[in-house]
Amino acid sequence: MPDTHISTLNGIFKGQDILSLKQFDQKSLKKLFKHTATMAKIAKDAKPSDILKGNIVTLIFYEPSSRTFGSFAASIKQLGGQTIEIQNPQQFSSVAKGETLEDTIRTFEAYTDAIVIRHPQVGAAAQAAEAAKIVPIINAGDGVGEHPTQALLDLYTIYEKFGRLDNLTGVMAGDLLNGRTVHSLLTGLSLFKKNIINLLSPTNLRLTRADFLYFQHQGLTLHEISSEKELPKDADFWYWTRVQKERFKDLSEYEKVKHSFIVTPELMKKYASKDMILMHPLPRVGEITTDVDADPRAVYLRSEIRNGMYIRMALLALVLGKIK
Ligand code: NCD
Repeated sequence: MPDTHISTLNGIFKGQDILSLKQFDQKSLKKLFKHTATMAKIAKDAKPSDILKGNIVTLIFYEPSSRTFGSFAASIKQLGGQTIEIQNPQQFSSVAKGETLEDTIRTFEAYTDAIVIRHPQVGAAAQAAEAAKIVPIINAGDGVGEHPTQALLDLYTIYEKFGRLDNLTGVMAGDLLNGRTVHSLLTGLSLFKKNIINLLSPTNLRLTRADFLYFQHQGLTLHEISSEKELPKDADFWYWTRVQKERFKDLSEYEKVKHSFIVTPELMKKYASKDMILMHPLPRVGEITTDVDADPRAVYLRSEIRNGMYIRMALLALVLGKIK
C-alpha cells in the first residue's frame, strides 16, 4: 500500500474524497455506522426517500464489477438520487479515443455532484481527486491498492455480529498480496486494539513485507500460516478471498495456486467455531463450495451484501452533506 499523508476525516464527511481506509478514525466509523443502521430501515421501507433528491452521481468503472457497481447505483436510487453509469469506458466513452483520466473527470464533475471510480491502477482514485476541482471522488477499487467501501461494509458486518471491532481473532485467506479488500480491511481493523489476524495464503501471495510490517506497526498481531491445519479454532470471523487472476502476468502461475484453500462443510466442521461468521467480498470462483451457503454462519450472500448498500447510502448522504 502506498504510504500516504492522508488526513483523517475526524467525523466530517461533507465534500471529502473517500480514497482510503486510512482516512478513517474511530469517531468517523461510529458516525457512519449509526447512519448505516438508519439506512437499513429506509431501504426496507416501501416509502421512497428523498435524501438525495436533486443529486446526480457518476459511476465510472474501468474494471468489471457486479456488486460494487450495482450497490452504489441502488444506494443512490434508494435515496431518490440519480446516476450516470459508465461501465467499461475504455470501449464506450471518449477514453476509447485516448482521453486522459483528468479530462474525463473534469467533464463529469460538470454534470454531477460526486464521482465513484473503479480503475485498474493503484492511485487512480487519488489522481481523479487531484483532477476534480469541485466534486468528491469515491474510490470503488484502485488496482491492488484499496477498496474502502468494501472494507467499511465488512467492518460493519463484523460489528453488527459482535458489537465491537476490538479483541477479535480473524482469519484472512486467499490472495493477500493482490486483494485490495484485504488491504483496506486490515487498515480498518488496525484502528482497534488487540486484534489478532491469521493470514492464510500460498507463500507467493502473502502480504508484501512492507505491508506486513506496516500493519504490525499499526498494532495488529499477525500470524502467517500456510496450511488449514494451523487455523485457530476460536476465530470470530473468516474472510476468504479469491486469487486475483487478472493480476497475474503468467496464467499458469495462477492455475497453480487458484484453489490452494477451499472452504467446505468439512473444513467448517473441523475448525470453525459455532459463533463465527464466514465472509467473502465476492465474486467467489470455487474457493467456498456452494454446499457451505446454507450454513447460517455464511454471511457472504446475506448480510454482507445488504450491508454494502446500506453503508454506501450512509456514506453518500454524508459526503453530499445531506445528513450530519
Ligand atoms: C472485490 C474487488 O473488486 O476487489 N470485489 C468486490 O468489490 N466485492 C473482490 C474481488 O474482486 O475479488
